[in-house]
Amino acid sequence: MTTTLKKSNEHTEDATPVWVEAGRAWEHAAKDWAYLFEPYARDAIEYVFAKANVDEHSSVLDVACGSGLALSRAARLGASTAGLDAAEGLIDIARRRDRNGDLRVGDMFDLPWPDASFDLVTSFNGIWGGCAAAVVEMARVVKPGGMVALTFWGPGKNLDLRDFFIALGSAVPAVGEELIDLAEIGKPGVAEDMLASARLRLVERGSTAARFEWPDSDVAWRALRSPGVSQPPLEILGDAKLRDIVLTSIAPFEASDGSYQMTNELTHVIAMRPA
Ligand SMILES: C[S@@+](CC[C@H](N)C(=O)[O-])C[C@H]1O[C@@H](n2cnc3c(N)ncnc32)[C@H](O)[C@@H]1O
Repeated sequence: MTTTLKKSNEHTEDATPVWVEAGRAWEHAAKDWAYLFEPYARDAIEYVFAKANVDEHSSVLDVACGSGLALSRAARLGASTAGLDAAEGLIDIARRRDRNGDLRVGDMFDLPWPDASFDLVTSFNGIWGGCAAAVVEMARVVKPGGMVALTFWGPGKNLDLRDFFIALGSAVPAVGEELIDLAEIGKPGVAEDMLASARLRLVERGSTAARFEWPDSDVAWRALRSPGVSQPPLEILGDAKLRDIVLTSIAPFEASDGSYQMTNELTHVIAMRPA
């Protein structure tokens, strides 16, 4: 199986850059991602922007910005914004959410901005295990004295999505192996090592709650089939079979009226580039 999950500047067997292939996986259900899944990051976005004092004097770059939820918030706070993502379909939505932003399709391992361009460089669930070189790029484009912030799913028990990820990995073992590699960032010390290798100084490690609320199983399924990680299992197993697997994995979170509520600990690390 050709991976669509790995993040690197390498090429697939047919010479497609891996980041282009990753982008295709992440845009396979772009609207559902933007409106049914991406709101998970709201509390983390608010927290990070408050911590970094984002306002009309700030310049903010969001790396692997997806459909631009974070950038639209930064723009409403008055910041000048820039963002990059591998998925053109997600960037199209981001451009509608943040009309004045400098939004680009590209590879986070090769950011198209000069050194020391931004006050704050963020990535909400865009940096995973194996992405240390992208953190070096983030550190390059942040100004001395500026901040870099990453979020990712933590390793602990407070992850209602856990059985969903396990179900995807059990259904397609190659995806399972890849998810284990990607989840490496959640282990204590891994993100801190990435920051230190990029010569960034850790300010804090903490967490916020990432919540999902879906009114019924149809909407829950549309939300959970939308991430890039669902695309290879979808291609291999088809919609009906994967839907059964996914809905079984989240059954404990179904209320008596058929709605779902899930809470997940979203870990963040915030660091500073020394002045
Ligand atoms: C979990 S999503 C996070 C999106 C957004 N930050 C959010 O919180 O909703 C991961 C994102 O990483 C992007 N991505 C994957 N590999 C990439 C790469 N090499 N360069 C840029 N973006 C990449 C995907 O297209 C996807 O939008």
